[in-house]
Amino acid sequence: MNTQNGSRYHEVHARSLADPEGFWGEAAREIDWIEPAKKIFDPAMGLYGRWFAGAVVNTCYNALDRHVAGGRADQLALIHDSPLAGGTVTRLTYAEMLHEVKTLAAIMQDFGVAKGDRVILYMPMVPEAVVAMLACARIGAVHSVVFGGFAAKELATRIEDAKPKLIFSASCGLEPGRIVQYKPLLDEAIRLSSVKPQACIILQRPQQACELVAGRDHDWAGLRASAIAAKKSADCVPVLATDPLYILYTSGTTGIPKGVVRDNGGHLVALKWSMFNLYGVKPGEAWWCASDIGWVVGHSYIVYGPLANGATSVLYEGTPDFPDRDRWWSIIERYGVTTLYTAPTAIRTFMKWGTEQPAAHDLSSLRVLGSVGEPINPEAWIWYWKHIGQGRCPIVDTWWQTETGAIMISPLPGVTTLKPGSATFPLPGIGAEVVDDAGRQVEHGGGYLTLTRPWPAMLRGIYGDPQRYRQTYWSRFEGRYFAGDGAKIDEEGYFWLLGRVDDVMNVSGHRVSTTEVESALVDHPSVAEAAVVGANDATTGQTIIAFVTLKLGLELGPEHAEVLRAHVVEKIGAIARPKVIIFTDDLPKTRSGKIMRRLLRDVAEGRDLGDTTTLADPAVVAELRRRASSGAAEQ
Ligand code: PRX
Repeated sequence: MNTQNGSRYHEVHARSLADPEGFWGEAAREIDWIEPAKKIFDPAMGLYGRWFAGAVVNTCYNALDRHVAGGRADQLALIHDSPLAGGTVTRLTYAEMLHEVKTLAAIMQDFGVAKGDRVILYMPMVPEAVVAMLACARIGAVHSVVFGGFAAKELATRIEDAKPKLIFSASCGLEPGRIVQYKPLLDEAIRLSSVKPQACIILQRPQQACELVAGRDHDWAGLRASAIAAKKSADCVPVLATDPLYILYTSGTTGIPKGVVRDNGGHLVALKWSMFNLYGVKPGEAWWCASDIGWVVGHSYIVYGPLANGATSVLYEGTPDFPDRDRWWSIIERYGVTTLYTAPTAIRTFMKWGTEQPAAHDLSSLRVLGSVGEPINPEAWIWYWKHIGQGRCPIVDTWWQTETGAIMISPLPGVTTLKPGSATFPLPGIGAEVVDDAGRQVEHGGGYLTLTRPWPAMLRGIYGDPQRYRQTYWSRFEGRYFAGDGAKIDEEGYFWLLGRVDDVMNVSGHRVSTTEVESALVDHPSVAEAAVVGANDATTGQTIIAFVTLKLGLELGPEHAEVLRAHVVEKIGAIARPKVIIFTDDLPKTRSGKIMRRLLRDVAEGRDLGDTTTLADPAVVAELRRRASSGAAEQ
């Protein structure tokens, strides 16, 4: 598959780790600093020290102004393709994008938004969302993008925590055959939150307008038109490399999402490096990361990475099968996309649809194919390589997390010998090892994935909760970052990711906390107790299975499962919808009262049960198994 010499990787990696500061210092030269760092890494703050401390930079300058100044004003920065909006395609050059960002940044300043202020975005996949992110970066404001599929309560939790001065939102989002109203959810979230934003800037989409709340809401287009008429424009505000760029909430093992804080300097360095060295992306080339701006993949590889490298980023508002199942392949053909970066769930879905659709399109522009978000099974890897890459394009399986900010474990095309299903090795400058329960390194075999040294795009903390930061990531294994993933090292030292080892599920590449779904279920008046597990699923990686005990005396039919699913969707959003709900009179617990999730997962997956001697009531297990095998009726 790849005939390149794998030993070159080890040479490159060993050299980088012998002098990580030298390695990252060299990478940092690709960034346009206002003032470069005197020290690449400052370990003064312990393990989670500071990268490029004292350096001054502006992320937006590196993403936009730099290219315009460098003679690339007319190159496309963004192509927005939206079959849902009647096939609208919007193209924005770097100069146009910069104009939009300068204007919006000036509008934000008029609202009193300044460096360090938080701004929430609750937006569909439209160019204005990217403009708003960059406008925040331009003036040093800290954006927090909330995935548009989240329900009002989830948005409220984030408003409460981030305390934004301003919120950007839209009247609606689009799904095949349906308009999804955003505004009522925003209004409800603000009502639920004790923190109120000073103002909301609302994009009225032509598909459906919404009512604006007098004194609080402002029409985006109106503000833009007056700002342009008044020739308003904001300059870049210099920020420290260590100042925050954004907060992005991600699911943890508790019901409360963690606000991962990312800074400016190290993030830029790592993204610029990975985009170029993994994908060879050059200015003007079309790059397509088919994620959502609400996730870290969208932040790093739709917005900041591609733009820092002067590429043309494709922003897609749609599903893979609308209007037809060949939509993705026609996008690649139409825009000459050189890299497709997507999740294994999408690839497995395409596999089910067959090879006819991709074969009908000219995919010869593709050079590299990326995978992210979940382990890619060898079958899907080979299918992707054969039918999309047509045997020409290396598959770059990239392991990373919201917390890491940039790709950490991945092949280097042309350098690493690939193995289908393995993310191969840690990138240069990155230390990763697998350890056992006691924190001892496992040379070959399975264990917990840890990172052995700080890295430039690393999270700066959990917003407002330094204790949780230390506790979650840096305390389980002395001197190591604990990723929460299981991994195996094979006899040739290749890393194979095995999924989460904590109470976090991975559904279609999205992190969903079991606790959050449980809380949503228990919130329903009919539910006494709930336990949620992720069970293996051939398409989505994992699927959500809920075991529910109803309140005493309640005899509800199987249709009640649908009521509970709808309740979860209302509380969290469609990504958290349990696929199967199994009603049970009791849940298996240890004597100390802890729900035995491993056992429930075994039941859900129809496997033989492990040791049940610690069960308070072993009879429950037999009952659960019986229910699980008839669970299809409740799907
Ligand atoms: O379990 C790992 C899985 O996704 C988790 C991170 O999720 P999130 O922060 O939402 O970021 C998504 C992608 C950057 C990880 O802890 N994961 C991510 N990439 C891979 C993966 N599992 C296996 N292989 C991957 N390539």
